[in-house]
Amino acid sequence: MGLATLQAEPREGGEDSTACRPLKPILPPPDPDLSTSTTLILGIESSCDETGVALYDATRGLLSHGLHSQVDLHAAYGGVVPELASRDHIRRLLPLIRQIANQADVTLDQLDAIAYTEGPGLAGALLVGTGFAHGLGLALDIPVIGVHHLEGHLLSPLLAQPAPAFPFVALLVSGGHTQLMRVGAVGDYELLGETVDDAAGEAFDKTASLLGLGYPGGPALARLAEAGKPGRFKLPRPMIASGDLDLSFAGLKTAVLTIVRKQSLSDADRADLAADFQAAVADVLVAKALAAIDRVGAERLVVAGGVGANRELRRRLLATAETRGVGVHFPDLQFCTDNGAMIAFAGAMRLHSRRAAGSFGVRPRWPLTDTAVTSS
Ligand code: KG4
Ligand code: ZN
Repeated sequence: MGLATLQAEPREGGEDSTACRPLKPILPPPDPDLSTSTTLILGIESSCDETGVALYDATRGLLSHGLHSQVDLHAAYGGVVPELASRDHIRRLLPLIRQIANQADVTLDQLDAIAYTEGPGLAGALLVGTGFAHGLGLALDIPVIGVHHLEGHLLSPLLAQPAPAFPFVALLVSGGHTQLMRVGAVGDYELLGETVDDAAGEAFDKTASLLGLGYPGGPALARLAEAGKPGRFKLPRPMIASGDLDLSFAGLKTAVLTIVRKQSLSDADRADLAADFQAAVADVLVAKALAAIDRVGAERLVVAGGVGANRELRRRLLATAETRGVGVHFPDLQFCTDNGAMIAFAGAMRLHSRRAAGSFGVRPRWPLTDTAVTSS
């Protein structure tokens, strides 16, 4: 499809644009120092079950963004079905991009670069965004840059005002990863500790399933926990006193499984158990995040990834950090879970750091520490 067709074509019938989350007003650029010479960048996220796109302008900030969640598509299966995810990304990507371009009143030939999620994630889903980005980049003759999904999460709090200054400790808590990193600059990431088994989001999802809640489990469990009181079930705080910065959540999920198997639970019991689980995860994350801050002598903590949307975790982190004089930075709630804005922004930062644009390919498995910035 030619570019002219791409811009002129009306939105396809049957595309449910109302399924996209509402767009927030334009955000200002995070910091003049972070501006890039590349002005307008399109970001594409398609690593898992959300199609996210955004237009980020180095001088004007985030112009527009759009998201289509596949939650309804996968709900019947209790989890993400990779093939369905890929097909849905194909269906959603172009209409979403048209929508955000219209909203920002820009045409695609005004783009200076395209950033897309290169990995880690589902190979087929990643290939959709990668193929689209490279095709459009070739047509427009502009740089195309592959972004590490976790780097997108990690830098997403810099989209907020005030943006945290480097260096900081980052607590990355998503569905697939739970890591503590020291972040010195874009591309300067030191892994301080990580989960030895389940990720925090994975533990939320699995525990939600044990409590009879649907997919995705994290937000559902958090809602149920609001109706309960923590403390009754005395769940463990795995590895809280291990002396290192690693974490573990598999045992917590098993403890919930043991309770669920042993007794029949009323709705009130389930709410209390959910509150207990949430408190246990938050306790461990807060303790380890503060230990990481002490270890590297950081003054700022940045929290990113889907579990960063958890209100109880946010409340506890803020309360504890305040007593220690540590600044805590969260992304805007809508940018905690997967989105295109974080990819556009990370791409802009990478181009600013003069990392060469990548070749075509996806990296379903990709350690974040393997993303060092190469100076030119
Ligand atoms: O960062 P993300 O959108 O995707 C990955 O990169 O994995 O994170 C998704 C994870 C899921 O496990 C989801 O259950 C969890 O974040 N999550 C939450 C909340 N919102 C999303 N967990 C706890 N409380 C929430 N409010
Ligand atoms: Zn993510």
